[in-house]
Amino acid sequence: MNDLALFLGQMIRKPGQVSALAPSSRRLARAMAAGLGPDSGLVAELGPGTGKITRAILETGLPRENLTVFELNPVFCRKLAADFPGLRVENHPAQEMQARGLGGLDAVISGLPLLSMSPRLQHAILSAAFLALKPGGVFVQFTYGPRPPLDPVVQRDLHLKADRGTHVLVNMPPARIYHYRRA
Ligand SMILES: C[S@@+](CC[C@H](N)C(=O)[O-])C[C@H]1O[C@@H](n2cnc3c(N)ncnc32)[C@H](O)[C@@H]1O
Repeated sequence: MNDLALFLGQMIRKPGQVSALAPSSRRLARAMAAGLGPDSGLVAELGPGTGKITRAILETGLPRENLTVFELNPVFCRKLAADFPGLRVENHPAQEMQARGLGGLDAVISGLPLLSMSPRLQHAILSAAFLALKPGGVFVQFTYGPRPPLDPVVQRDLHLKADRGTHVLVNMPPARIYHYRRA
C-alpha cells in the first residue's frame, strides 16, 4: 500500500489523531528539517505518520542513532520500523518523551496536529519537549491555518517565544513553519 492510501485509511479510522488529508509534501518535509545535519546532536520527531519528515531529517545526514520518533498509531509505527531499520520508534504519546528517558535534545520536530488539541494537551506536550530539550533547543512545528499553532496562553505559561518561518505553498494545504524557543 502506498503512503497516501495508508495515511487516508488511518485518517478515516482515527480522524482526531491524524487530522490531515495527506502526508506532508517533500518540500514541507525538507523545510521542517532545515538546519539539521551530520553534526546535529540528539533530535526527537513527534507524530511522524508515514515518515515523510523522518526521511527528510535523515537525508540531512543526521546519524540515525541520534533520532527518536514518537508516534501513537501502531500501524504507522510498524511502517516506520520497516522503512528505517535501526531507528528508535516509540509507540507512545509525545507527552511521555521525557518519562521515556529523552533528554539533551537539540531539536524537536513536530508534525502533531497541535491546533486541534486542547490547551491542556498542548501544555503537556510542549512542557515535556522543553524538559527534554537543551537550553537553546528549538521546537519546530508546522500549521495549516493563519494562526500560530500554539495556544497563546500555553506559550505564555511556558515562557516561549515564537518565530514565524517559511511558508510552504507546495503542500496540501499550504503550511507555515514556526520555531519555538525559551524566551
Ligand atoms: C497530521 S499527521 C502528520 C504526519 C506526518 N508528520 C506528516 O507530516 O506527513 C499527525 C500524526 O501525529 C500522530 N499523533 C497524534 N497525537 C499524537 C501524540 N499525542 N503523540 C504521538 N503521535 C501523535 C498521529 O497518529 C499522526 O500520525
